[in-house]
Amino acid sequence: MTSSKTPVALLISGRGSNATALIRAAAQKDFPARICLVISNNPTALGLNVAQAEGIPTQVIDHRPFRKDRVAHEEAIQNALINAGAQVVCLAGYMRLLTDFLTQAWAGRMLNIHPSLLPSFPGLHTHERALKAGVRIHGCTVHLVTEIMDEGRILGQAAVPVFIHDTVESLAHRVLIQEHLLYPQVLRHFLTQHPPSLTGSSLLIA
Ligand code: GRF
Repeated sequence: MTSSKTPVALLISGRGSNATALIRAAAQKDFPARICLVISNNPTALGLNVAQAEGIPTQVIDHRPFRKDRVAHEEAIQNALINAGAQVVCLAGYMRLLTDFLTQAWAGRMLNIHPSLLPSFPGLHTHERALKAGVRIHGCTVHLVTEIMDEGRILGQAAVPVFIHDTVESLAHRVLIQEHLLYPQVLRHFLTQHPPSLTGSSLLIA
């Protein structure tokens, strides 16, 4: 049976809660994506179990045997993506920096979710840094992936308030709830409105 849904592959490294949100969204009949493959660089990533339980093909492509050869690791990923027929790739907690090899191969077709309101707080430990900076509004961003980390075009953002008694954990939890809403919503827009217009980008405010 042919499907009008776009084949989308997910790259994960760990818990996989965003991958789960995308898998569940894609299980809906009217969602424009079908998840064709979940790849993890980490053999013990919990997200692999969720994907398998939902009947999604998974593949572990461990980076460690490739040692410092990041491009060779990405070539293995690229082969898997091509074999699965992926047309779009969503990074969902994928914890490795990509080289130009993959970012250029998927330019304009690779999305990432980042736990801050970019361009504020690119990189790691975003909730801790947001608390330290004393911002009153924090959130998450879905953006296109380029060779520069956390820098591609913003496709959607969700904002949450920062409360006076927030801890890293409470703030992370509030942001994560929004991540799970934002990523499927942005992917839906992206696939139905390609190329995405700036005015059409998603904005969620908790
Ligand atoms: C999320 O906070 C995501 O924004 C960031 O890494 C975390 C991954 O969590 N890129 P999960 O694996 O999706 O649960």
